[in-house]
Amino acid sequence: MKPIKVGLLGIGTVGSGTFNVLKRNQEEITRRAGRGIEIAMVADLNTERARELTHGEVEVVSDANLVVNNPEIDIVVELIGGYGIAKDLVLKAIANGKHVVTANKALLAIHGTEIFKAAQEKNVMVAFEAAVAGGIPIIKALREGLTANRIQWIAGIINGTTNFILSEMRDKGLDFDVALKEAQALGYAEADPTFDIEGIDAAHKVTLMASIAFGIPVQFDKAYVEGITKLQGIDIQYAEQLGYRIKLLGIARRTSMGIELRVHPTLIPAKRLIANVEGAMNAVVVHGDAVGATLYYGKGAGAEPTASAVIADLVDITRLATADPEHRVPHLAFQPDAMSDLPI
Ligand code: HSE
Repeated sequence: MKPIKVGLLGIGTVGSGTFNVLKRNQEEITRRAGRGIEIAMVADLNTERARELTHGEVEVVSDANLVVNNPEIDIVVELIGGYGIAKDLVLKAIANGKHVVTANKALLAIHGTEIFKAAQEKNVMVAFEAAVAGGIPIIKALREGLTANRIQWIAGIINGTTNFILSEMRDKGLDFDVALKEAQALGYAEADPTFDIEGIDAAHKVTLMASIAFGIPVQFDKAYVEGITKLQGIDIQYAEQLGYRIKLLGIARRTSMGIELRVHPTLIPAKRLIANVEGAMNAVVVHGDAVGATLYYGKGAGAEPTASAVIADLVDITRLATADPEHRVPHLAFQPDAMSDLPI
């Protein structure tokens, strides 16, 4: 069978990670997907760098429309970020009958309802494992592994930048600004670090997890969001003396009033596993009625951890797209269920 053809929109850190891991593990990935997955085209404004990163093996263009309009491309991977151009391109790709993989949590948290609806109408899949907690397969866990459960709550450290800052402030007594600069230098922070430190990035991610866990539409605007900018070294020291750690948690919880969505600094007893997640690592606890509490831990950002999630989505879509369309369950497209009218 011919390989499935992928077009990458944007080849920065995650895009080049995706290219490299696909190439390195080609044999295993092909076997698992049931057919080859080929990056056939890359769109990036910096065409020279894109050619270098893909070793001249892939067609490189500067106009992303050439990818989303190309009838040869089956899956578009959107790694541009933001919700301007990225939204137009994703909607165009869907309108052209292409499946979409994206790491863009901001785009989906704000425009997810419109995007998932468009995908359902065209019977294409939109997959976003890489948008939440990088390499941790949390979307898959919520959607598949825990599918028998009534999820009661989710609580996660889902922003590496702020966890790094809090760890540095505690361990080395660093000031907030110094720790933020370090996080930026290490490449953890968003292009606009406000999204990290004000809790917005974590709120995007918890909104997406909640939509899967509770079958509700994505409703970022309903989340309570508070970041870490008001925390001082003294707060962290006092917490420590009382036997607690301060972590920025994204929380989604089923209550009798509806689903609660919130992001804020939280005091956690120092003995708890999640209190000991340090540096830029991510961890998510999910509590289901059947399984009880489950914990997922790993790298929430970076080239290959995020590529690992992008490729998992590519493999899923390849399997499903190759199956008989009559029997295909478009489970990667978001479908609100009976819970969808619960107030948040
Ligand atoms: N800025 C994000 C973080 C990157 O620090 O977790 C991964 O989404």
